[in-house]
Amino acid sequence: MCGIVGYIGPREAYPIIIEGLKRLEYRGYDSAGIALFDGSELKVCKTKGKVVDLEAKLYKEISSNGSIGIGHTRWATHGVPNDVNSHPHYSNSGNLVIIHNGIIENYDALRKELIKRGYVFKSDTDTEVLVNLIEEVKKQEDVKLGKAVQIALNQVVGAYAIAVFDKTQPNEIVIARLGSPLAIGVGKDEFFIASDASPFLEYTKNAIYLEDEEMAIIRLNKDIKIRKIKDDSLVDPYVQALKMNLDQIEKGGFEHFMLKEIYEQPRAITDTYRGRLNREEAIIKMSSVEDNMKKFLAADRIIIVACGTSWHAGLVAEYIFEDLARIPVEVEYASEFRYRNPIITEKDVVIAISQSGETADTLAAIKLAKSKGAFVFGVCNVVGSSIARETHAGAYTHAGPEIGVASTKAFTTQITVLSLIALRLARAKGTISSSDFRQHLLEFEMIPKKVEKALEADEHIKKIANIYKDVHNFLYLGRGYNFPVALEGALKLKEISYIHAEGYPAAEMKHGPIALIDENMPIVVIATKKGHYEKVVSNIQEIKSRKGKIIGIVTEGDVDVRALADHVIEVPETLEFLSPLLTTIPLQLLSYHIAVLLGKNVDQPRNLAKSVTVE
Ligand code: F6R
Repeated sequence: MCGIVGYIGPREAYPIIIEGLKRLEYRGYDSAGIALFDGSELKVCKTKGKVVDLEAKLYKEISSNGSIGIGHTRWATHGVPNDVNSHPHYSNSGNLVIIHNGIIENYDALRKELIKRGYVFKSDTDTEVLVNLIEEVKKQEDVKLGKAVQIALNQVVGAYAIAVFDKTQPNEIVIARLGSPLAIGVGKDEFFIASDASPFLEYTKNAIYLEDEEMAIIRLNKDIKIRKIKDDSLVDPYVQALKMNLDQIEKGGFEHFMLKEIYEQPRAITDTYRGRLNREEAIIKMSSVEDNMKKFLAADRIIIVACGTSWHAGLVAEYIFEDLARIPVEVEYASEFRYRNPIITEKDVVIAISQSGETADTLAAIKLAKSKGAFVFGVCNVVGSSIARETHAGAYTHAGPEIGVASTKAFTTQITVLSLIALRLARAKGTISSSDFRQHLLEFEMIPKKVEKALEADEHIKKIANIYKDVHNFLYLGRGYNFPVALEGALKLKEISYIHAEGYPAAEMKHGPIALIDENMPIVVIATKKGHYEKVVSNIQEIKSRKGKIIGIVTEGDVDVRALADHVIEVPETLEFLSPLLTTIPLQLLSYHIAVLLGKNVDQPRNLAKSVTVE
């Protein structure tokens, strides 16, 4: 988690790094720092807080500039967020500086060893240990920076993306990765380094993504040398032409990225099924599914692994796959799956879902499943991400960059991809008739317009948000396909407004949560027409008789729930398996407005990071 930016070339490094760090703040934002080399002096400035705090501090502390620099925005792992623990970290001699994303697991043993050799540590971080280890190797082995980094990393256990600068070799930056992403932007006579491509998109569209266990020595006015950290073999740099543009990662007139991303969903869903769903010919074509059709059809079961919101998308997919394609599905938290000695066979298909494609637990679950011989299919948003590369095959959600830390369009586009796969498999297995299939495709194509319609309730939802913004607890209830949506609604509220919320299957309410209900408890009930409607109406009656406040998510024109609920929010009617794509929208807006009304930082909620690359 943590964002890394670096620059080496003819321009001033400072503005490139600061603007780059702002774009990477979604990766962590409890402290930030920068190191700049102006040709003679190496200056470091760092602070607890956000990149704007760093800017303010820099203004006072650093007057000269330079055309080489590295910068960091942090999500703390070792050591509380404070000025001292912020990156960059100096080595004891003051010659080396490092920025690091990840965790050095054996840092304590390394630290003790370095202390014995006379090293002194100012911070509590594993990163300061690493920079001093590199310094020690450099001294002991009498080698250049690149070699010292390589030898040191071979002694390290853990995960890292690092950038190291040595003022005694001021024409180069050395970078390396294992488990945390790192990209190099290749310009004319200049190079950019970043955790993702967003910091350098306006300068160059040519990028090299380092693979795990690779390092690169990036020299001014020279070629990049990429090597394998373990065996020192040279790697041919593969320069990709990026297709994304800057508009896609800016706010486009919206107050927050989260709101922009909520509103982008009609477009994002369309982009996700475009070219895959062909209604006229009544086909779904996804090359990665076609190429592996035999594996899907021979599968005993599908195991879905994911975390957080992506896990909720997996739960929705469980209903869809079982219902349409009649394939048994198990949905697992990646973090639990990887540690519980799961039974996986060669006849299992594992689907890993991840927006970022970098989530450490999901990545580890994939590696475990692969080691047991399962076929692993990825559903990722970030192109070229670690999970996209680690899986045997996969399908991208074409949601575009998701910057708001709370996931919105990633969720609906994940459901879109998974629904397409389920429908394709259902057709191949003959578990859906051709007329139903056609009807499903027709309805699928209407979803973006229906999401637009659901978004029209925004002002109404804002009013409801204003009524309930000061409560301390919320319950979310749903059944069937909409049970995972209830979980997702509760998660969205928790993470950005810090109001406690729980999601339950509506019928489970009477097995415990009903005890919580009184006149102060708002309960969001997803009660759309299809899917156990009468049963959910009965649950609403039960809430009503205990004086709970009911916010019903209902189908347009609903009468029954309207008669009982304190508020209703309408969504257009659709087929049951597609309903999560609509019922999610008001829940996203409700949490967004409550958080804004409470004055919370919607795009960067406390303690969270967009990409969780640590366990
Ligand atoms: C919630 C949220 C997280 C992520 C989770 C998995 O809004 O964003 O719960 O869904 O950290 O991340 P990915 O999908 O990147 O693997």
